Amino acid sequence: MFAVYAAEPNPDAPLDALRVGERPDPEVPDGWVAVSVRAASLNMHDLWTLRGVGIKPDQFPMILGCDGAGVLGDGSEVVVHGVVGDASVYGDETLDPKRTLLTEKYQGTLADTVVVPARNVLPKPDGLSFAEAACMGTAWLTAYRMLFTRSGLRPGQTMLVQGASGGVATALVALGTAAGMRVWVTGRTEEKRALAEELGAHRTFESGTRLPERVDAVFETVGKATWGHSMRSVKPGGTIVVSGSTSGPDANADLQRLFFMQIRVVGSMMGTRDELAGLLEFCRLRGIRPTIGTELPMTEAAEGFGQMLAGETAGKIVFTR
Ligand SMILES: NC(=O)c1ccc[n+]([C@@H]2O[C@H](COP(=O)([O-])OP(=O)(O)OC[C@H]3O[C@@H](n4cnc5c(N)ncnc54)[C@H](OP(=O)(O)O)[C@@H]3O)[C@@H](O)[C@H]2O)c1
Repeated sequence: MFAVYAAEPNPDAPLDALRVGERPDPEVPDGWVAVSVRAASLNMHDLWTLRGVGIKPDQFPMILGCDGAGVLGDGSEVVVHGVVGDASVYGDETLDPKRTLLTEKYQGTLADTVVVPARNVLPKPDGLSFAEAACMGTAWLTAYRMLFTRSGLRPGQTMLVQGASGGVATALVALGTAAGMRVWVTGRTEEKRALAEELGAHRTFESGTRLPERVDAVFETVGKATWGHSMRSVKPGGTIVVSGSTSGPDANADLQRLFFMQIRVVGSMMGTRDELAGLLEFCRLRGIRPTIGTELPMTEAAEGFGQMLAGETAGKIVFTR
């Protein structure tokens, strides 16, 4: 079948490991289902996979794509949940020590067909296109869990999103404004800050700018480049929710400020099937649709990967089949 895959790990030149070609048709184990993929979106995780981060060398070649939307054999339209873990034992499958995301152990969604456990498909809401639905399973689910499960924020409080134009960042802005938060955003260019304002951000700032007042919670996916600013921007007793470290994980922890200001630092990882169902319903109730900056056929995946690597994002990058 057609697939977009990583041939081998390449830490220095990830795009050199990207292949658009053919992979064997998948087998469907008992209790799993085959989804004919109509759309899949690109996540930073796919660039990490091409670099060999978070995946064992013997797992290559690996079909990329952590999320997607498509059609089952019986014609039902579905959204894929990309976390494969045991919810029956842990309640929350993201806490299963053996949980994996698609593309870490099991093949991903950038292909004609993806095979997942039957519990890992949810009905696609009628109001969302396949391309829009394909944004929900990773970046949007991560933003939903960061905001509603992990941050402890209440409507009316102020949140700062580090980064304006990325998949998780645009989802945080859309969800935060819809939920009644005061949403502040940092962005690296005027164009990116304008996008955040179009999505409803109440104020935007250049990356690293001193804020007019401290915020109740900061949402971090950037890491080293923004960590110091995040620590300085949160109120005493406030929270920093972290789900990524695009610019590097080795930030200065600033432990003195951490204990003196009683800052809570909270990790967040993807989300559960229940949270994905909640996200889809929240978006339906509020009429929220993900922002798609680039939509390309899967055959032109290399162009989309190049955009993400260059930081040229304006919402999600989606590939259709
Ligand atoms: N833990 C999880 O479950 C989970 C799930 C999804 C994503 N993630 C992580 O979250 C991160 C973002 O993923 P994504 O898919 O949203 O990526 P993306 O669409 O490529 O977005 C990248 C974001 O990072 C910001 N950024 C990058 N480098 C920066 C720098 N040096 N200074 C300031 N801002 C910078 C960009 O801000 P501008 O708009 O200003 O360019 C943009 O908002 C990745 O590290 C990814 O691995 C984690």
